[in-house]
Amino acid sequence: AWTPDNIIEMRVAQLKEQIGDEQVLLGLSGGVDSSVVAALLHKAIGEQLTCVFVDNGLLRLHEGDQVMQIFAENMGVKVIRVDAEERFLTALAGVSDPEAKRKIIGKTFIDVFADTARELSGEGKGIQFLAQGTIYPDVIESAKSHQGKAHVIKSHHNVGGLPDDLQFKLIEPLRDLFKDEVRKLGVTLGLPEKMIYRHPFPGPGLGVRILGEVKKEYADILRQADAIFMQELEKSGWYDKTAQAFAVFQPVKSVGVVGDGRRYAWVIALRAVETIDFMTARFAHLPYDLIETVSNRIMNEIKEVSRVTYDISSKPPATIEWE
Ligand code: XMP
Repeated sequence: AWTPDNIIEMRVAQLKEQIGDEQVLLGLSGGVDSSVVAALLHKAIGEQLTCVFVDNGLLRLHEGDQVMQIFAENMGVKVIRVDAEERFLTALAGVSDPEAKRKIIGKTFIDVFADTARELSGEGKGIQFLAQGTIYPDVIESAKSHQGKAHVIKSHHNVGGLPDDLQFKLIEPLRDLFKDEVRKLGVTLGLPEKMIYRHPFPGPGLGVRILGEVKKEYADILRQADAIFMQELEKSGWYDKTAQAFAVFQPVKSVGVVGDGRRYAWVIALRAVETIDFMTARFAHLPYDLIETVSNRIMNEIKEVSRVTYDISSKPPATIEWE
């Protein structure tokens, strides 16, 4: 019978057999799939697993710390955190085209990951295997030929296209599982439900939620606004009633009034959608009171924001992300 316990037991036995006493490298993003792979591998091979978590400076508020807390501190998984914010922001400077930004973020990720893998080999680790959180829908998607956004190949979590000097044998223990099955494994493996039932977050992260050129100043403002939105969604019970919700940074300035003075500051858009398959989506009909609370908090708590808007576009023709 398909039970999470059975599947875990079988996979752990298979992984032990396949890996023996070799070393395994895993790119940990903090998303559901790579997190479940990390937990599964940790159970199977413990210290032989090394995870690399790349902080690209485009993550949500405290996201990097949370990943370290869950995996390194609580579970005792070996995680190397690479602070690559500057490298990403430098690579993105002056670039405003969405697809160009995606390519740069994907390439920089590979470069950073490859550098870290080389350093580890230099330390004499002799890593043989690369583990990836590929799940069944990814296998299907990459089999089709696709145009457009890079998420179809999941370029961020899955480290395809590594340079020739880094050739690993691949381990993909979730390759035949659907998302809901992966989630069940995650819960059984003891990962926090909050992480397992989180809204999807795109590989390029805040890089495609800051319209146009990405700057640290913008990312810092957006992180705060997004965190306020998430807090209020969770508090009101609406987080679980929406499939995806986030804030978007608009690089335009608008006038506001604070006390006796004028404030000329940035605009934040809120986006929340209901969808099953992410191919079509309806904007979430959030209660006005909730939107009002979020909007007031953002304008009061973030002095660099003078105006908040709510995105009422459905997909199609609008996409879920703004870029
Ligand atoms: P759109 O904006 O195309 O988004 O309606 C559909 C779903 O895909 C996610 N998305 C991405 N995920 N890399 C990813 O890993 C990307 O470049 C990317 N672009 C969009 C989006 O968040 C939504 O869940």
